[in-house]
Amino acid sequence: MTLGEFIIENQNEFKYSSGELSRLINSIRLAAKVVNHEVNKAGLVDILGEAGETNIQGEDQQKLDVYANEAFIKTLTNREIVCGIASEEEDDFITIKGRNGKNDNKYVVLIDPLDGSSNIDVNVSVGTIFSVFRRVTPEGTPVTLEDFLQPGHKQVAAGYIIYGTSTMIVYSTGHGVNGFTLNPALGTYYLSHPNMEFPATGHIYSVNEGNYVHFPQGIKDYIKFCQKEEEDRPYTSRYIGSLVSDVHRNMVKGGIYIYPNTAKDPSGKLRLLYECNPMAFLIEQAGGKASDGYRRILDIEPTELHQRTPFVGGNKYMVEQAEAFMAKYPRA
Ligand code: AHG
Ligand code: MN
Ligand code: MN
Repeated sequence: MTLGEFIIENQNEFKYSSGELSRLINSIRLAAKVVNHEVNKAGLVDILGEAGETNIQGEDQQKLDVYANEAFIKTLTNREIVCGIASEEEDDFITIKGRNGKNDNKYVVLIDPLDGSSNIDVNVSVGTIFSVFRRVTPEGTPVTLEDFLQPGHKQVAAGYIIYGTSTMIVYSTGHGVNGFTLNPALGTYYLSHPNMEFPATGHIYSVNEGNYVHFPQGIKDYIKFCQKEEEDRPYTSRYIGSLVSDVHRNMVKGGIYIYPNTAKDPSGKLRLLYECNPMAFLIEQAGGKASDGYRRILDIEPTELHQRTPFVGGNKYMVEQAEAFMAKYPRA
């Protein structure tokens, strides 16, 4: 089954007007194809390297970050469905009035256009992450910050694209998670991973252990637990440095991903709205769990567009074990 067929067949599951969601997923699918093409030829053309700009996080932007950002914004803007976009690469959210200028589109999209961008120069998987909410302000008025600062449990859809050994779209509208693989010869996505779920057991832990000395004691203790020789342990360590790829692998094989807070970065590194919320939505839909070590990611009330949060996500029982170690120490 192709993604197009799947969207039509399942559109009655979506609690709001079905055609709208189809159009939204369609435009993401289209932008993903454009970005995929560019990512694939990155090694061939002079597009590698930094664009010379610094984003709001104070990080250097790779050229493909800029390209992917523009591709998604352009594609989403041209459809009569999205009234606003927030992106990792934009300081402020973007207001989209719609072709008729009436501000009557219903959805806001939050994106990390290119995730894991430090991997581009070395031919390692990168991704795109997206999160979709229904606006809370009245239709017919321009979007406001309030439309973007909604807790993750209000997401109506979320997903990621992974530009890996093959290109995949994985998304959920709150009825499970499905993965589609691109056949590059035809430009068509096929349902390759129906009803994705974490396997019952997981044996992988994924964390940037180079930062170990800066981790909270509870995380240090949990890492030692992962490495201990006992029953099904030690676990295997796998860390790509691209949230999309690391979570995707753990969802397929079973495992836990951790990006903790440190003394230097008390809120961790990952962004709540366009990294952790959508990934947490998918993880829960696949039977897993995602928290900041203490509370459910999807229940956090956001206060800022580019807010960061510590992140622990994966097999439910593994996340609960990590939380049990965290609970032994007062919250930093
Ligand atoms: P981005 O490329 O969008 O800035 O995101 C990078 C993020 C995430 O994908 C990854 O898991 C994490 O940064 C890796 O960080 P470290 O290099 O600190 O491990
Ligand atoms: Mn990212
Ligand atoms: Mn990014």
